[in-house]
Amino acid sequence: MVLVIEDDATLNRLLVRQLTQAGYVARGVLRWKDAQRVLTEEEPAAALLDMRLPDTDGLSVVPQLREVCPVVVLTAYGAIEHAVKALRAGATDYLAKPVRGEELELAIGRALERASLQRDGMFWKDQLQSIVSGRMIGSSPAFRHATSLVDMVAPTDQTVLILGESGVGKELFARAIHDASPRAASKYVAIDCSTLQANLFESELFGHERGSFTGADRRKEGLVEVADGGTVFLDEIGEVSATIQAKLLRILETGTFRRLGGTKDLRADVRFVAATNRDLQEMVKAGTFRADLYYRLSRFVVDVPPLRDRGDDIITIADCFVTDRAFRRNVPKRLGPEAKRALLAYHWPGNVRELKNVVERAVLVSGDRETIGVGELGLTPEPRAPETKSFRLEFDSPPTLEEIEKVYLTRLAGRSDLSRADMAAILGISERNTYRLLAKHKLR
Ligand SMILES: Nc1ncnc2c1ncn2[C@@H]1O[C@H](COP(=O)(O)OP(=O)(O)OP(=O)(O)O)[C@@H](O)[C@H]1O
Ligand SMILES: [Mg+2]
Repeated sequence: MVLVIEDDATLNRLLVRQLTQAGYVARGVLRWKDAQRVLTEEEPAAALLDMRLPDTDGLSVVPQLREVCPVVVLTAYGAIEHAVKALRAGATDYLAKPVRGEELELAIGRALERASLQRDGMFWKDQLQSIVSGRMIGSSPAFRHATSLVDMVAPTDQTVLILGESGVGKELFARAIHDASPRAASKYVAIDCSTLQANLFESELFGHERGSFTGADRRKEGLVEVADGGTVFLDEIGEVSATIQAKLLRILETGTFRRLGGTKDLRADVRFVAATNRDLQEMVKAGTFRADLYYRLSRFVVDVPPLRDRGDDIITIADCFVTDRAFRRNVPKRLGPEAKRALLAYHWPGNVRELKNVVERAVLVSGDRETIGVGELGLTPEPRAPETKSFRLEFDSPPTLEEIEKVYLTRLAGRSDLSRADMAAILGISERNTYRLLAKHKLR
């Protein structure tokens, strides 16, 4: 049905007749109030809207009406500025009065065609939505390399360690490994190792026997039993205590474990995937992460690249998020060229998670404007890296290594602007070793 909203009764009748002759079902109303009543009963395929109505200004209702169907506005002859305003407000097309028959048909035909394209677009966006919420987007070489590792390792029972900065998508990768594995039909259990206290964590993971601690009034199965046949994802593995590290090593090596307070060795058929954004190697050096567990976990590593190394993926992902957000709010949105350039230039310390937040916010603050500009992204440029100064150590005669070490450390230790962590970072060693060296040279 094509809805004709025109207060000139003669013109209204004429338009309805022309549309009917052209094969459309048309319905005419004289006022916006009547149009609203029709809209509660029926959803027109298109609407012809007069810009001047007795009970409203046509322009002001365009945004509302176009949510329902494509809108073609009728303007007085020569009132081109009205037409432009209407198009800006979201009308698909305009017709100047007096309306010629073939022009009317053409305009309505175009409007309907566009509406059907939009419907198809919606279908596509629906699909996209499920991709955005579940699947990983990207085709850059760095990203493809990482996903190819997933394809390689998923079909096996190999333990996988996923590394990468915060927000790069490690959780999605873990899930992808499970989904592409023969265990996909069984359970996938994710445990955040950073949120639970050590003893609670142990009972969560391995279960407990009755009476094993105060409050343990029943025997409880651990997640490794719950996930039998499936996958256990140990998120933030860098946070687990020494006790749990030992137990994890055991289950990884032998496939057996004991419930808290239990004496029987139990067997679990689970595949482990672990992830962390910490530098485990450094933790091993510092003595806070067991070397044997690290070697066991790191036999197969998937390094998820930071977003800044994924080139145009930044835009592809951003576009998907924009479309997804805009679709939910039922407004057309796109990223302007300047905004795209800014996205590409930014360093993304928070990676995909940050990109998602930036885009969601931009869609909100851009209001009715279709194009998202660079200002709406609210990106702050990268803080400039501290100037690298040349660094010289002077000796009267060729020094021994020991002497270099001592002079260098004395120099660093004399700088009041450096914390021990800063010193460790400059030296490229752990804080613990920094501490040791300082003690050795009696510098602390
Ligand atoms: N390639 C991608 N395509 C689409 N969305 C992605 C992609 N990678 C990550 N995301 C989304 O980015 C967000 C952060 O991802 P995720 O939680 O997996 O990061 P993480 O590496 O586990 O971060 P953290 O170390 O902070 O736990 C999630 O909303 C996720 O859906
Ligand atoms: Mg995570």
